[in-house]
Amino acid sequence: MNNASAAIQPTLLSHLQARSFYDAFGERQDTQGFYEDPALDALTANAEFHRARAVFEFGCGTGRYAEELLGTHLIDAASYMAVDLSATMVRLSNERLTRFKDKIDITQTSGETKLAPADRSIDRFVANYVFDLLPDNEIAEVVAEAERMLTDDGMLCLVSLAKDKGLLSGLITGAWQRISSIYPQAVGGRRPLELKDYLPPDRWQTLYSEVVTSWFIPSEVLIAKPRR
Ligand SMILES: C[S@@+](CC[C@H](N)C(=O)[O-])C[C@H]1O[C@@H](n2cnc3c(N)ncnc32)[C@H](O)[C@@H]1O
Repeated sequence: MNNASAAIQPTLLSHLQARSFYDAFGERQDTQGFYEDPALDALTANAEFHRARAVFEFGCGTGRYAEELLGTHLIDAASYMAVDLSATMVRLSNERLTRFKDKIDITQTSGETKLAPADRSIDRFVANYVFDLLPDNEIAEVVAEAERMLTDDGMLCLVSLAKDKGLLSGLITGAWQRISSIYPQAVGGRRPLELKDYLPPDRWQTLYSEVVTSWFIPSEVLIAKPRR
């Protein structure tokens, strides 16, 4: 990161602002696939979802990733739970996943970081393009909840907007940071970050880490397991 971009402070959306934005944005979230899909594919290829019995997703959006998991990668006996603070997103994902209705549970929240699943009950904790719109303290709280909820061989599966030092993608990252500091709604309240900064190395073992750049927009894919 250069000094100029280090000095830029992002302006983040409150829970109410984020809900209002994503309620209105709704299905248009899926148009972001042009740069998100290669990173999501890297996550899917490396997170061994076929071994999971219980999957939890934080900020499921329209349910697009859940549909791929439930339709292609999860075993029949697997269950899927999710939360999202947007009523529109909860409705869209429930509609999209109707054919899996017996094994899904998608709940609208107020944006809280305390989550319902019991200790060590979840095999994969997924959060795609959500940490980049949360303040640092909330990211830390969600990571602590993931640690509590994951089974001993469970995996934290994260994808986020990333910072990149490549020439063109670095320029785009810098521009994104500037926009998010001035008018965060223009970028969905999201700013690039480095996921590893939020995973204390004494508590998390990184299993897979990659920055995937598509259309000059870099995304970080990170898979980690709790150290116990
Ligand atoms: C950029 S979208 C990503 C959606 C989906 N994960 C994807 O990859 O397409 C961010 C999502 O996180 C949700 N969200 C934002 N803050 C949240 C919070 N504190 N708790 C739960 N969901 C949240 C939004 O409503 C929105 O659906």
